[in-house]
Amino acid sequence: MSEMQNIQWFPGHMTKTKRKIEASLKLVDAVAEIIDARIPVSSRNPDLDQLVQNKPRIILMNKWDMADKKQTARWVEYYKSKNIKAIPIDCKSGRGLNNFIPQVRELLADKIEAWNDKGMTGRSIRVMIVGIPNVGKSSFINKMAKNSRAKVEDRPGVTRGNQWFTIGNSFELLDTPGVLWPKFDDPAVGEKLAFTGAVKDQIMDTEMLAIRLLEVMCKYPTEAFIERFKLQNIDLTGISPYELLDVIGKKRGMLISGGEIDTERASIMLLDEYRSAKMGAITLECV
Ligand code: G4P
Repeated sequence: MSEMQNIQWFPGHMTKTKRKIEASLKLVDAVAEIIDARIPVSSRNPDLDQLVQNKPRIILMNKWDMADKKQTARWVEYYKSKNIKAIPIDCKSGRGLNNFIPQVRELLADKIEAWNDKGMTGRSIRVMIVGIPNVGKSSFINKMAKNSRAKVEDRPGVTRGNQWFTIGNSFELLDTPGVLWPKFDDPAVGEKLAFTGAVKDQIMDTEMLAIRLLEVMCKYPTEAFIERFKLQNIDLTGISPYELLDVIGKKRGMLISGGEIDTERASIMLLDEYRSAKMGAITLECV
């Protein structure tokens, strides 16, 4: 079950996280924001720009394995045009992770040079990891700091319990201090988070969610989607998502008594298959 489902979001909670992040910013050289590469807009915290202020930032587009590679590349270019470094990563296989340290070093090149000039060669680079629940923060830290045990430290001005992880002898990661919220007041964002499974289905009607997913799939059908459900002879631009759900349910033999199609079961199956990328690597927010 996702962490997002267990969280009661309330203003006091957000204020607490804001304060923790602000306090911890003083201790780090850069901020690494982890997002879900399949939903690069909806998986971001809406207030982060303001929260991290001028701290150098890098975006880690995680779950790259489940996102459309071309789209991820376009997003990386998009961020580049905004002068923001972004790198695709996949914390399941570890792909892309070896770019992280070199890219952070590049991001902080001037600072590192200044340290060297001051004789502070080899000073540890400290990076704070932030991201909304379920984007893969723990997976990232576990992969990067595989041989390092969590170091809980009290550094001046910081709330007790800040967790630091060391990588080699000149890199440290600070686990996200507090829980960052998504833009949950926007229903379109909630829907995307429900597609990926970051929030629970029960928040939205399963069938409605599957219908909305099919609308997207009809607009941007992948080969894997067409092959998986044998839709080669279906005109995806002409069919309604409701009809398509019936077609898919029928092809999978999901029938209830009387020969009617079990659209509820078909919806659950569709969402499961999207979440496990069986319908192909699909990005739901394109640039
Ligand atoms: P969080 O700390 O930000 O809340 O996220 P966490 O690392 O717990 O990851 C949330 C889920 O996403 C986990 O799956 C994790 O395995 C999966 N995940 C993280 N990074 C990647 C990635 O790059 N690719 C893929 N395919 N999955 C990723 P889970 O189902 O909650 O747990 P489990 O399957 O690991 O048991």
